[in-house]
Amino acid sequence: MASIGRQAPSISLIAQCKTRFNQVVTSFSSTSSPVVHSRSFSIFSVKRTGTRRAATVGLGFNRWVSTVPVSPKKTRRKTGEILSTLLEVGGVKISRDDVVRENDPTNNVPDSIFSKIGLQLHRRDNHPLGILKQEIYSYFDNNFPGLFNKFDNLCPVVSVKMNFDDVLVPHDHVSRTYNDTYYINAETVLRCHTSAHQAELLREGHSYFLVTGDVYRRDSVDSTHYPVFHQMEGFRVFTPVDWEASGVDGTSYAAMDLKKTLEGLAQHLFGNVEMRWVDAYFPFTDPSFELEIYFQGNWMEVLGCGVTEQKILINNGRAGSTAWAFGLGLERLAMVLFDIPDIRLFWSSDLRFTSQFSSGQLGVKFKSFSKFPPCYKDISFWISESFTENNFCEVVRGIAGDLAEQVSLIDSFTNKKGMTSHCYRITYRSMERSLTDEEINELQGRVRDEVENKLNVTIR
Ligand code: PHE
Repeated sequence: MASIGRQAPSISLIAQCKTRFNQVVTSFSSTSSPVVHSRSFSIFSVKRTGTRRAATVGLGFNRWVSTVPVSPKKTRRKTGEILSTLLEVGGVKISRDDVVRENDPTNNVPDSIFSKIGLQLHRRDNHPLGILKQEIYSYFDNNFPGLFNKFDNLCPVVSVKMNFDDVLVPHDHVSRTYNDTYYINAETVLRCHTSAHQAELLREGHSYFLVTGDVYRRDSVDSTHYPVFHQMEGFRVFTPVDWEASGVDGTSYAAMDLKKTLEGLAQHLFGNVEMRWVDAYFPFTDPSFELEIYFQGNWMEVLGCGVTEQKILINNGRAGSTAWAFGLGLERLAMVLFDIPDIRLFWSSDLRFTSQFSSGQLGVKFKSFSKFPPCYKDISFWISESFTENNFCEVVRGIAGDLAEQVSLIDSFTNKKGMTSHCYRITYRSMERSLTDEEINELQGRVRDEVENKLNVTIR
């Protein structure tokens, strides 16, 4: 794992993003079961009651789907796959060398992540994520005509200040570590949540907004986790005229409005379902809640939300007002609404997947195409102090891409000398074809080499 160094940022991406990023989306592309092994999409939330769950992130299986290259510059990776080296997101040019720097200890972004920037699945009309986004837009447009500004093309490269400081994430919060977040350098990250845009939009004068975008988190490998996924953020500011006549204070008014608005949204998406509010903790809201719905026999977390901390409003020119904010994970909801069993499918360009969805059709059930057989390979090594499972998973994804369906720890022990051994089982499976023994052995061989070279472990 890269050690956390301090180095001045060498790139101008943030400056570019700042000047371009306030493009309001005015015309949108048009426009949601399997039981998702629920891991909440939130790394910020701590529930006050009930059991903890973990975040839904996806597994994509089409690694080099073309992005929006602005130059013919391409590079050939070890795998033989072609990677565009220059992209454009929301008018911001992003080059591969800005984002991926293998020998820079302040950088931990691999090529496999760079290749996802610019794909913007949430902006595709006929993609489940685009359809879901549009359906949420429709709810807000119908209930609050003309009120909410929509942003879905803001640059995912943001400063540490935007991603963490501006939304009051404590300095020792786990989400700030190199193990959890992709750092481009010590001051610049790939946003790990859409809340990264709250402060800037407030300062630009927006009081009602929805921000949809791709977010990036280092994570494990299984059917509900993927290091890139999509969130939508909602934000609404109130001034004293809004609450004065109601007889309640500004915070209670915002909390009441928040709950009413989000219950309506859940009903719009899921129909007449049972719902419950669970107290939660987020650094940027107080009080904070999670909304759960009872769906197909399980309580499922739908979103995190709360009344915005006064400090955020004061710091961004809104003293005297109150506000609410929410954040929801699109994959998590889309997996349930469209019956999509594996998060990698969202990244597929296989026609058998893409042809099943069309604009405006929320909740059409995905029909699985035949499942090809899995192949299991185990790997055991003595770990060192710096070893983390996220680093191991990233090596596996870097080599096997979306052929890696799952990575699970199947054995762990410590010997008399205090050395700890881990044994991981990697499940390889393609959703599109049968894999040959030869290619799996080749992948596994490369995983062994790279694990030993990069992770400071000793293969057993
Ligand atoms: N940003 C939070 C997350 O990613 C979600 C959230 C947004 C919670 C806004 C409260 C308010 O976990």
